[in-house]
Amino acid sequence: MTPPGLTGRLREAVGDAGLVTDPGQLGGYLSDWRNAWSGAAAAVVRPGSTDEVAAVVRACGEEGIAVVPQGGNTGLCGGAVPDASGRQVVLSLDRMRRVRAVDPVNQTITVEAGVVLQAVQEAAAAEGCLFPLSLGSEGSCTIGGNLSTNAGGTGVLRYGTMRDLTLGLEVVLPDGRIWNGLRGLRKDNTGYDLKHLFIGAEGTLGVVTAAVLKLFPAVRSRATAWVALGSAQAAVDLFGIVRALCGDRLTGFEIMSRQSVDFVLRHGSGARDLFGAVHPWYVLVELSDTLPDAGLDGLLEAALAQAFERDVAADAVVAAGSAQVAALWGLREGISEAQNFEGPSLKHDVTVPVSSIPGFVERTDRALRAAVPGIRIVTYGHIGDGNLHYNLSRPVDSDDDAFRGRADELSRIVYDSTSSFDGSISAEHGLGQAKRDVIADYKDGYELELMRSIKELFDPRNLMNPGKVLPAR
Ligand code: FAD
Ligand code: MLT
Ligand code: ZN
Repeated sequence: MTPPGLTGRLREAVGDAGLVTDPGQLGGYLSDWRNAWSGAAAAVVRPGSTDEVAAVVRACGEEGIAVVPQGGNTGLCGGAVPDASGRQVVLSLDRMRRVRAVDPVNQTITVEAGVVLQAVQEAAAAEGCLFPLSLGSEGSCTIGGNLSTNAGGTGVLRYGTMRDLTLGLEVVLPDGRIWNGLRGLRKDNTGYDLKHLFIGAEGTLGVVTAAVLKLFPAVRSRATAWVALGSAQAAVDLFGIVRALCGDRLTGFEIMSRQSVDFVLRHGSGARDLFGAVHPWYVLVELSDTLPDAGLDGLLEAALAQAFERDVAADAVVAAGSAQVAALWGLREGISEAQNFEGPSLKHDVTVPVSSIPGFVERTDRALRAAVPGIRIVTYGHIGDGNLHYNLSRPVDSDDDAFRGRADELSRIVYDSTSSFDGSISAEHGLGQAKRDVIADYKDGYELELMRSIKELFDPRNLMNPGKVLPAR
């Protein structure tokens, strides 16, 4: 039940414009885009400034009500969705969309947390710079969400994760105080680097309201290839060949199993196959350079020639023109959405050392096929980072509910296998509510205790996104 004074206090903090009361609009804030999680809320607020965020957090604290920060709500583990109690306030950053400053000399951009990732990329490009974070959800996800999940995506190989791209933060802490750490410095050894506690914290330590991010020189030439391969080992071998020859020009290296591509061909509008024959695996390779005429097509062709000589590649196409480049990326970026048409998708986002990928795929596939004959294994992702989206769809002739009923058992198989290769059960999506309990079985107990101590220090009353990240005691 909503405490009687809460709505009035929130209205005082954010005004009428910042309070969502229309039942038609509320739904979008209370469940995720896949409808995998849904909850209820005492209120949904949309503060328009850092001071308003602080006022909301203080008001909630005084009423003993928890706050759930929310950006674009594109997350994949339920982190931005409130629980079912109706006693949490969803705090959306979607009115904090100002680019506060771009400094091309310092190569930095300062943005508010609600700015959509694509808008940051565009603001950087307008100044002749590159902001390199790139995700399939970039048209809707926000910088606050990217920071809070330490987002990865397709450019990590060359530019790193969101953590690597961040110089400074502004955060409203659970007691309503504002920490202004908006420094644009590449060197600052004055003690503990607090920003790293909030990056990847999934909103459990405070509300990020703004950030200073790194920019890079704009990319002026690209070359993209689609390569067919006979095995995951061949994909790893190809990675070695391209990396050795092209060095830092290698900016994208994405793997897709045939099952993943089949789903996009079936459900993606205008998607089409490139080769006559069917191959078990494909890789999308992208090179880029700041020089306008860097000879990248020739370089990529030389790498592919080596791959053919060593019997690593089965077939390959270097994209001719921007339409074909977009079509290739469409095949890759369309997988997540296409899988939703095939019944429930059981998502896993794992990392293992790149060298362990073939062993991981072989061992995990075998265990799953023994458990569920006919299971459709949808493996794709950022193989250059050792990160596989190892998703599962039910066998064609089986029932959604029966498959959902075995979800925990099947995820265990994937996570046990990941763990046996010294991997992580969340490479880039985070724990949210989806993996917050299971992590207790895969992370060192002492490490989890240290995490709890940090949580208690920042949020002793457990009012900042409770029920996320940390396992229930
Ligand atoms: P939300 O979903 O709103 O929130 C995510 C988490 O951050 C929640 O715990 C929330 O409480 C917290 N949070 C949000 N804003 C704040 C804030 N201002 N302060 C404190 N906490 C906050 N992710 C990747 O890493 N790599 C990918 O390649 C990738 N591809 C994707 C492709 C598709 C098609 C989709 C739908 C998602 C993909 N994602 C990917 C997942 C998702 O887009 C990212 O996690 C993204 O960073 C989330 O941003 P958001 O603004 O939507 O955050
Ligand atoms: C991607 O890389 O496409 C996303 O992180 C994965 C997903 O939607 O599972
Ligand atoms: Zn991903």
